[in-house]
Amino acid sequence: MNRLANKVAVITGSTSGIGRATAELFAKEGAQVVVNGRRRELGEQVVEGIRAAGGTASFFYGDVTKSDQIEAMIRFAVDTYGRLDILVNNAWSGRSAAVLDLSEEEWDYLFAVLLKASFLGAKYAIPEMIKGGGGSIINISSVHGLLSSHNYCAYDSAKAGVINLSRSIAVDYGHQGIRCNAICPGWIITEQTEKWVKEHPEHLRSAEMLYPVGRPGYTIDIAQAALFLASDESSFITGHALVVDGGLTIQLQDGVASMVERTVRQRLSGE
Ligand SMILES: NC(=O)c1ccc[n+]([C@@H]2O[C@H](COP(=O)([O-])OP(=O)(O)OC[C@H]3O[C@@H](n4cnc5c(N)ncnc54)[C@H](OP(=O)(O)O)[C@@H]3O)[C@@H](O)[C@H]2O)c1
Repeated sequence: MNRLANKVAVITGSTSGIGRATAELFAKEGAQVVVNGRRRELGEQVVEGIRAAGGTASFFYGDVTKSDQIEAMIRFAVDTYGRLDILVNNAWSGRSAAVLDLSEEEWDYLFAVLLKASFLGAKYAIPEMIKGGGGSIINISSVHGLLSSHNYCAYDSAKAGVINLSRSIAVDYGHQGIRCNAICPGWIITEQTEKWVKEHPEHLRSAEMLYPVGRPGYTIDIAQAALFLASDESSFITGHALVVDGGLTIQLQDGVASMVERTVRQRLSGE
């Protein structure tokens, strides 16, 4: 408890999913939290839940593809709580597709929400963090930032950009007390995907097979990693891309292929 006592945190896209779990955990650990998103009702529900549990939080309605709204969100945090120590750039929405199936507008939108928003968040947050003696920026990337997958051209590209943006910020502002790290989650089941997973249990079965820890991730797995990077316990860690994927990306493809082959063979022969 209280690993983030006296700290103020802004978490973009925290009306649901990883952002929501992170907001709830940070508040539980003593941070004053700004919850953000465009679904006002859900955001207010997250805030109510945090307050009911004894924490401190406020909702800021804002679209992270709009520079003025990001600036206003950072201003809101400082005006409401007096300082800014932590920024988690987490928001995302959009459609993934291969080059020939993605419009230029969709590419631009994905880059705005996934990469430019992290640049703008840092741009407005860093001066406030420096005033307070330093801070921690955490950019949510993905295993897609390290490797590529079918039909994810813009997502893969933007998430790779997020990792190097994090390194650039770490290098440029480290001497002023700013740390910046990325987190690369594997597949994380959220309230948005829970229903779909129940309807398609085969995806859960294949994740149990593909992930060396025998399961996909849950939002709390990423929130816990973000908590470590936000807290002073990680004060010597910056510019790092922390892979939180249950071991998905440590495996050689030929090993995975033979494991899948073996399992299919066993199933077909009824073993
Ligand atoms: N879940 C996974 O398997 C997984 C794996 C690797 C990486 N990630 C990354 O983890 C992050 C969170 O993903 P998630 O699965 O938790 O997503 P999610 O449940 O769909 O939540 C996305 C959040 O972003 C907000 N958002 C979307 N567009 C926004 C905008 N323009 N302005 C402000 N907020 C916006 C949404 O709120 P509103 O709708 O209220 O605006 C929502 O709170 C993303 O960066 C994603 O790429 C997820």
